[in-house]
Amino acid sequence: MACDSIEGWLKAGFEAAFPGNDFSNVRALPATDAKFGDFQCNDALAAAKTLHMPPRKIAEAVFARLEADRPDFIAKFELAGPGFLNITVSTDWIAARLAALAADAHTGIPQTGAGQRVVIDYSSPNAAKQMHIGHIRSTVIGNAIDRIYRALGYGVIADNHLGDWGTQFGILIKGYRECLTQEERDNLTVANLEKCYVLSAAKAKEEDGAWKEACKAELVKLQQGDADNLALWKRFIDISIGEFDRMYAKLGVKFDTYRGESYYNDTMPGVVAKLQEMGLAVESEGALIVNLEAEKLGVAIVRKSDGGYNYTTSDLACVKSRVEEYSPERIIYVTDARQQLHFRQWFSIAAKMGYSGVKLVHVPFGLMSYGGKAISTREGNLIKLDELLAEAVRRALEIVKARTTTGDTPNPAADQATPAQISLAEQIGYGAVKYSDLSHDPITDIDFNWDKALALEGNSGPYLQYAYARVCSLLDKAAEGEGGRFGEAALPSGGRGATALPGEMLLSTPIEKQLGLQLLQFGPTVLRAAECYKPSVLADYLFQTAQLYSSFYQRSPILKSEPAVRDARLRLCALFGKVLSTGLHLLGIETPNRI
Ligand code: ARG
Repeated sequence: MACDSIEGWLKAGFEAAFPGNDFSNVRALPATDAKFGDFQCNDALAAAKTLHMPPRKIAEAVFARLEADRPDFIAKFELAGPGFLNITVSTDWIAARLAALAADAHTGIPQTGAGQRVVIDYSSPNAAKQMHIGHIRSTVIGNAIDRIYRALGYGVIADNHLGDWGTQFGILIKGYRECLTQEERDNLTVANLEKCYVLSAAKAKEEDGAWKEACKAELVKLQQGDADNLALWKRFIDISIGEFDRMYAKLGVKFDTYRGESYYNDTMPGVVAKLQEMGLAVESEGALIVNLEAEKLGVAIVRKSDGGYNYTTSDLACVKSRVEEYSPERIIYVTDARQQLHFRQWFSIAAKMGYSGVKLVHVPFGLMSYGGKAISTREGNLIKLDELLAEAVRRALEIVKARTTTGDTPNPAADQATPAQISLAEQIGYGAVKYSDLSHDPITDIDFNWDKALALEGNSGPYLQYAYARVCSLLDKAAEGEGGRFGEAALPSGGRGATALPGEMLLSTPIEKQLGLQLLQFGPTVLRAAECYKPSVLADYLFQTAQLYSSFYQRSPILKSEPAVRDARLRLCALFGKVLSTGLHLLGIETPNRI
């Protein structure tokens, strides 16, 4: 038969046995244990409910159809237990698929998003405050999801929904005018803004309430469009964005738009009017609320009793704007888990307002602690993101220097890091910080620990970067030995990194076959990570793949093997290198060729 995909064959079998049913979700999953074969299909069990039949009976009917139309590349096919279909494929088929993977411009990542748009709302810090270590999760997780969706072919709009409006600006404007020196005002930084906020907020708590009233008056002036206050506000925002961008540049994060909450100021009244018109919003104690008790989501305020709008109103105005402007297939919001109720509430209101064509997704993440302690101002460990990143580079530099300076060749300039060493330390340090977050399911609470993040062994960013650098040096060595020739193609030598090598794959040992099958799972894994919004699915896969590669590498001589085996093994190494670096880039982690 013409079908050369396992899933195509399986689907055809299910459809032939039970015509008129939808089997578009039938999957061949990697076998949990190699003794059952290479893949298993559990869809007979899944179909039992809809078909009202015992799974084993379904599996038998499907098995008979599939067996009658079994393609050559299925080496062994068995029906087991309550209805599992166990599949063993031929080594030739794996080899051919790997050769195709090596030649594929997308490294096997299915282009399921082609022609569709998705908005990803992440990082979104509040203006006039320095980013601290608590902001890293939204930035790093959001950016990985952003990169993964782009790789699947989606048109991604990365939007930084800054907290750039609200009562804090009254406090800030008053503080700026009266709590800062002229010099501080002239050289305004986010640190100065933070300082004047703290001072002004403290004064606003004073007994007589005069300062508080003055802050409120500044806020009202701002809201009414007073030119001086608007200019000040604009300056605060520009300075904040400048400071955030400095962090984003270090982290390799780029946004398409920076539309903060203020962008929606003018459209909020219309949204509220529509809610009233539809009978969704009703007056209650002077405020306007949407009652969501029927869904056990409590009550959402959409206009406060003082006439002001709030977070819910602004997110409703924002979704309207995004839907009208981009017609996205979905919008993904990455924030901490404490905002879950907020998102459930307004997603529900949006559905009632008729925004049903767009999938709204909240990706909540857990808290981060530091060295076993909760991060809080009270603990005194509210570490600035800037400081965390600087510390990461400092620590990574120690590792880099230790590796490049050997004990018996005293290096007088050992303390003086070269630009190359610093660049390497940045790649390792930032990679370590990102990976220590991305290797966990977003919803779990995590503890940041330097030793674990920077470990060269174990599930860490540096371990994976190091694995990649080793593949590169192996390929370089091979290139030197062969005068740079590899079959008909030139080997990528001289630190150009691991690009896949064209040609035939031979899988002569079980571990090579296992590694080959694992590499074929790269594309499906990227898709799975996207579908469940968990970069950790990809991180887990990369770690497992690196471990498998390491056992292959330990057990299989490469450069010393006879030419045909040597070349085939080099191809497998190069493909591993390509998969690893593509995967790490999707997590926002750089892959230096040498460490
Ligand atoms: N600025 C908010 C915060 O710091 C996050 C905004 C998330 N995005 C949104 N559309 N609500 O928690």
